[in-house]
Formats: sequence, C-alpha cells, structure tokens
Amino acid sequence: MECSWKVVVLLVFASLGIQYTAIKSLRTAFKSPCQVMGAESRCLQRDVRDNASRLLCEDLGQQESRKHIILLATTRSGSSFLGQIFNQNPDIFYLYEPLYHVQRAFTNSSARMQKQIDRRSLLGAYRDLLHNLYNCDFYFLENYLRPAPKDHETTSFFRRGASNALCLPPVCEQLHPIEEHLCAKKCRTVNLTLVSKSCHQYKHMAIKTVRIPEINDIRTLVEDPRLNLKVIHLVRDPRGILASRINTFTDLYRAWKIWNSSGRKPHHVDLSQITTTCTDLINSVETGFSRPSWLKGKYMLVRYEDLARDPIRKAKEMYEFVGLGWKNNVQKWIEQNTNGNGVPLGNFKFTTSRNAAETAENWRLHLCLDIVLALQNMCNVTLSLLGYQSVDSTPQLKNLSHTLVEPRIFLPFT
Ligand SMILES: *[C@@H]1O[C@H](CO)[C@@H](O)[C@H](O)[C@H]1NC(C)=O
Ligand SMILES: *[C@@H]1O[C@H](CO)[C@@H](O)[C@H](O)[C@H]1NC(C)=O
Ligand SMILES: *[C@@H]1O[C@H](CO)[C@@H](O)[C@H](O)[C@H]1NC(C)=O
Ligand SMILES: *[C@@H]1O[C@H](CO)[C@@H](O)[C@H](O)[C@H]1NC(C)=O
Ligand SMILES: *[C@@H]1O[C@H](CO)[C@@H](O)[C@H](O)[C@H]1NC(C)=O
Ligand SMILES: *[C@@H]1O[C@H](CO)[C@@H](O)[C@H](O)[C@H]1NC(C)=O
Repeated sequence: MECSWKVVVLLVFASLGIQYTAIKSLRTAFKSPCQVMGAESRCLQRDVRDNASRLLCEDLGQQESRKHIILLATTRSGSSFLGQIFNQNPDIFYLYEPLYHVQRAFTNSSARMQKQIDRRSLLGAYRDLLHNLYNCDFYFLENYLRPAPKDHETTSFFRRGASNALCLPPVCEQLHPIEEHLCAKKCRTVNLTLVSKSCHQYKHMAIKTVRIPEINDIRTLVEDPRLNLKVIHLVRDPRGILASRINTFTDLYRAWKIWNSSGRKPHHVDLSQITTTCTDLINSVETGFSRPSWLKGKYMLVRYEDLARDPIRKAKEMYEFVGLGWKNNVQKWIEQNTNGNGVPLGNFKFTTSRNAAETAENWRLHLCLDIVLALQNMCNVTLSLLGYQSVDSTPQLKNLSHTLVEPRIFLPFT
C-alpha cells in the first residue's frame, strides 16, 4: 500500500481536530453552570435547570454569604473587647481562644520540653484546628481537650462563657446571653455534638486568637477559597501592651515590674518578651502593607487606640469590611460597656467592663521613663510603622493632653 506523506499529514490533522472537539465538548458538558461564568451572576439567572447544578449553585451561594472571620491579636492588646463586637452579634458563632487547647496539649508534656517544642508543628496544629472549627467539626478539638471527653462531653472547654453561642440553645438551656461566670456555673458540661449542630445554625463564624504570631502563619487558610476567610489584625502600641502585661502576668513579668519601680534594668529581664511581639507586628504589618494578592480584600489593620477612641465607628468599618450588616445589639453593647472615649482594658484582667477612667494611653502613667526609652529603642520600627510617637522626657511621657497616637488611616486594600 502506498502511503504518501500528504495522507499522513492529513490524518494527523484530522485526528487532532477530532480530539480537540471531543475535549472541548466534554469540558463544556462537565462544567457546571456555576463555573462557566461568574458564579453568582450565572446562578442568579433562571436557566439552572437540572437539580445537580441547582444544588451546586445553592452550595456556592451559601459559601459566598457565610463569613469566616479571624481576629488576630497579641496578649493584652484589647482583643477581648474586639471579640465582643462579634460575639454580641446573634448571627455569629464566636469562639474565644480555642487554640489554647492545642498549646496546652503541646506544652504540657513536660517542663523540659516546653522550651523546645517545634514551632512549625505547633503552627501546623493551630491551622488544622482552625480549619476544622470553621467547618463546625468540634470532634477534632477533642484531640486536644484534657481530660479527654467522654461521649463527646467535656467540662474543660476553655473560657466557654466568653462565647455567647456556647451559653445558648442548643448547647445550653439559657434563653438569653448571660455573664461569663454565670454561664460556666449554669450550663455545666459542653456537649460537642450539640456545639457542632449549633455552629451550623449560625450564619457566620468568628474566632479570636492571640496565638498566631503573624499573618504569614495562616497564609494557607487565607488562600483556601472554601474558607473565604477575612482577617482583622488588631495592633497596639507595644509600650501599652507591656504595661498591661506587667500588670496582668505578675509572675512572668516580675523582672519588668522591678525595673519599673526601681528605674534600673535588672540583669535577668527577658527582653524577648516584648521584642518578639514587636518583630511579629512588623512582619504582619509589612506583609499587609506590601499588598500581596493573597490578602486582597481579606486584610484589615485596626489600631486598638483608634478602636478605643471611637468604638462604634471602628466597629462599623469592620462590619463593612467583612460584609456584614450593622446590628443594634452590638451598638447597644458598645454603648453600655464604654464611656465616651474610654474603652476599658488597663486594670481588668481578661474582662471587659465599664470604666470611664481607663483610656488606651493610660499606660503612660504606669511605665517609668527608663523602660519607655529602652522599648522605643528596641521597637523603633514597629512604633514608626504604626504611627506611635516616641518621647524623651518624663513630662512629655506623662502629659496625656498630648496624644502619642498619630492620626493614620489604614484602609483594607481591594
Ligand atoms: C428535582 O428536584 C425536585 C424537587 O426539588 C423534584 O421534584 C424533581 O423530581 C427533581 N428532578 C429530577 C430530575 O431529579
Ligand atoms: C501534664 O503533664 C503531667 C506530666 O506529664 C501530667 O501528670 C498531667 O496529668 C498533665 N496534665 C494535663 C492537664 O494533661
Ligand atoms: C449530646 O447531644 C446529642 C445530640 O442531641 C445526644 O444524642 C447525646 O446523647 C448527647 N450526649 C450526652 C453525653 O448527653
Ligand atoms: C510602675 O511604677 C509606678 C511608680 O512606682 C507605678 O505607679 C505603676 O503602677 C507601675 N506600673 C506597673 C505596670 O506596675
Ligand atoms: C531604628 O533603630 C536603628 C538602630 O538602632 C536604626 O538603624 C533605624 O534607622 C531605626 N529605624 C527607624 C524607623 O527609626
Ligand atoms: C501638655 O501638652 C499640651 C499640648 O501639647 C500643652 O499645651 C501643655 O502645655 C502641656 N502641659 C505641660 C504641663 O507640659
């Protein structure tokens, strides 16, 4: 048989053409209507006929409207107050520091081990837990609860009372939100099956944590399109953070207290207790300022001082950023728990209660100049990035009628 090169070329072209058409039509057939065009616009049209596609569209619609929020902060930066702005919203399932249990499980094994836990595996475990919680899988949390729950029931859910959803039906019989200590007393055990059920019933979810050092540590979560995560990053003047920690963690920060009262730096003071915080702040903030595409529309920086100065306005900005409608309950709670320009924090250990005298800059009356100067030296980059002015004399430090917080506007980038 004669087989000229022309026939071969023709055959090759023909088969390529057939393959191309076949692949193309297959792809069109398998693509759901939701994926062909912009998912929302297509799903809004009436031509979604078959049931499978309709389900897909409904699923997608729910995902789009369900908001997952992470409140990223450091200890003593006002995060409990920030958390309440979401906890008080009856549409939001709010969790207070669930990562505590992971940290506990990792660090308890032995005191000797504490210093050397692998940071990367701890962060990996944090991310795993967050992912499962946003999917309302609370059985996953049982891996970290001590003592281990029996029949999905636990008595050791950390600060369960700080979360309204864990003190209301179906988790607890109480019909209205109650004070944290009353919740722990009245609601007793936590049935994690019911918690998962409850979590599914809420429209949105918010988790507060002070245990994620910097935003880059949750990049994989932010990038996961199914999570649709929004990050609210709360920062505070490191001098204010330090003053509050000295006051709160009296054992851990004892050396700092001695420094503060004597005006002289003790040899054994652990400077990394605050420099690590400053470095983490720089890393997160610089990442945010560099506007990487993975953070587009997903990152909002909030200074605690701005939140304290005008909590309602700031709260509304955050709601807008997340894409939530404003709630009167939240407005009422803020009005009842703040007074003019005073958001409580200073002397209140882990609570948010009313005290008109406390303001975000009160730390200036509680730190001696020597510590302030040392801190300004160690954290100079953090201070200037976030717009906190340095001082160089005691009169300047103590004169509260001159604010050290420069006006700055940090807009989420989209
Ligand atoms: C599609 O769903 C409707 C109800 O949701 C049902 O009545 C109908 O039989 C389903 N059609 C097919 C082809 O499964
Ligand atoms: C912590 O570890 C110690 C020693 O390994 C153990 O005896 C104790 O039960 C653990 N505590 C918790 C809460 O797991
Ligand atoms: C927890 O709640 C589930 C769902 O209502 C129930 O079936 C289960 O018996 C409860 N567990 C306990 C230990 O009460
Ligand atoms: C630091 O010392 C001053 C003066 O002794 C005191 O008023 C202030 O409360 C102290 N601050 C802290 C955080 O303990
Ligand atoms: C911070 O201090 C270092 C040296 O201690 C200096 O090189 C640097 O320019 C300072 N940065 C800012 C922003 O002030
Ligand atoms: C405090 O600061 C204000 C505003 O900067 C200034 O007008 C005032 O003189 C200062 N008071 C003292 C006692 O230095």
